[in-house]
Amino acid sequence: MKTTDSVLKLLEKNTNHLSGQQIADQLELSRTAIWKAIRSLESAGYKIESKPHQGYLLLDPPMLSETFIRRNLATKVPLHFELHDSITSTNTRAKELGALPSTSEPQIIVSDQQTKGYGRYGRAFMSPQQTGIYLSILLQNQQEYFDAGLLTTATATALCRAIEKKLDIKPNIKWVNDVLWHDKKISGILTEGITDMETGHLKQIVVGIGIDYLTDPSTYAPEVRQRAGSLRQAVQKKGLSRNAFIGAFLDEFFKLYPKFNSHDFIADYRKYCSTLGQQVTITRGNETITGTASDITDSGELILADGQVFSSGEITKIRKTTT
Ligand code: BTN
Repeated sequence: MKTTDSVLKLLEKNTNHLSGQQIADQLELSRTAIWKAIRSLESAGYKIESKPHQGYLLLDPPMLSETFIRRNLATKVPLHFELHDSITSTNTRAKELGALPSTSEPQIIVSDQQTKGYGRYGRAFMSPQQTGIYLSILLQNQQEYFDAGLLTTATATALCRAIEKKLDIKPNIKWVNDVLWHDKKISGILTEGITDMETGHLKQIVVGIGIDYLTDPSTYAPEVRQRAGSLRQAVQKKGLSRNAFIGAFLDEFFKLYPKFNSHDFIADYRKYCSTLGQQVTITRGNETITGTASDITDSGELILADGQVFSSGEITKIRKTTT
């Protein structure tokens, strides 16, 4: 292993300062070699606090770090992580992993950047480096019937709970699964299933979440800026790293996941859902329907005031009704 990698591993294991001498002794290297490794880690972007008489402490870095995600995780669910600097799409990678013989434990794939990120209806999902959170959860299905739509609804709720708790702001949900802040989309969720071709059984589920976490909205194209936002302002105010937020979100997700079929979370979903009470235009296939969104069923379907119920579709227009 390279000296920088061994120094990094040792620093990652310690939550207290370690002196140059302690590191040198443990790795059986010279203090000069340790000093050089620390400098090279710093130039690679790692933040290392250095205190006289105490030594070095690795701080939560701007890049993704499994160590720092795990430090913010409270869930007891055993999770496997795969972190990437750059990847085509974390959902694509999760589906590749799903095809391999693997563990029954959930796998979390996160990347600093996606070159072919995609969303619902095959739309491109812009995923610039180190400013967003691009994460997929690969789950094994043991159930006879799995309601993937309801899991998407539960994921949006888990995400809103994490945002509210950690960033102290009030996010909203635009039915079905767009998370908004100040009426602009800051996150999208895409759930995909992997089916056994022979039995038709849903073997695995991939839940992909993309969040504009630190993205600067002034870099968006003008037509995008009208509808796309970012958590940047709230994140900078709180100084909460991506690693810490990922940990918090995964905690909320795995609190909800074991009992998402019980529909308990729907009350929270309704609370976050800013679509209710608004006049909306829904596109479903070739159909376009306009009406007033009146409620959400326990299964996450949208009910219009005229009684029509939608289990899928996309709201393409909202006309705000003030009360
Ligand atoms: C949407 O708004 O239509 C859903 C967007 C989902 C984007 C996420 S980013 C992580 C994962 N990988 C992908 O390629 N897509 C999802």
